[in-house]
Amino acid sequence: RRILLINGPNLNLLGKREPHIYGSTTLVDIEAQAHAQAASLGISLETFQSNHEGAIVDRIQEAAGWAPLKSSNAPSADSDGGQGNIHKLSRVSAIIINPGALTHMSVAVRDALLGVAIPFVELHVSNVYAREPWRKHSYFSDRAVAVICGMGAYGYSAAIEFAAKHMRVQEG
Ligand code: DQA
Repeated sequence: RRILLINGPNLNLLGKREPHIYGSTTLVDIEAQAHAQAASLGISLETFQSNHEGAIVDRIQEAAGWAPLKSSNAPSADSDGGQGNIHKLSRVSAIIINPGALTHMSVAVRDALLGVAIPFVELHVSNVYAREPWRKHSYFSDRAVAVICGMGAYGYSAAIEFAAKHMRVQEG
């Protein structure tokens, strides 16, 4: 069983960025703790952070075993145009995503998640409902299995435990 943790724009700055809002834990610490937790739960965890919307779309497609063209580290497409790859390449069972500001902006990342049809948890370190009004709108929440916000770095632990124990996961 594989779970993919995606962090979007500026989350590489966790720990340094507005610590009164996002806390002092770095993304390196969060990912290290997440890997340890996943190991103890007997699941395989992959982590990915990017400041680029298109890179996140590519990574979500790869999670379904669909290889975006021209991606150097993507699995190679075969002669049937890629669809057949789904059965040959391992598919991620669940995605945990903190889309950062893309939460409030990105139809493309939403479409990628719906396109691959991999169940996902939406996660925010801060309580987006207690901040600027425009942070209340998410392009993801209506299709997420669960939404976590305001738990700080602990939200990542909660999301992994939930994904590992409670989400319907496919063998892959
Ligand atoms: C965030 C909340 C977003 O509104 C913001 O743009 C972020 C981080 C969070 O984790 O609290 O970059 O997703």
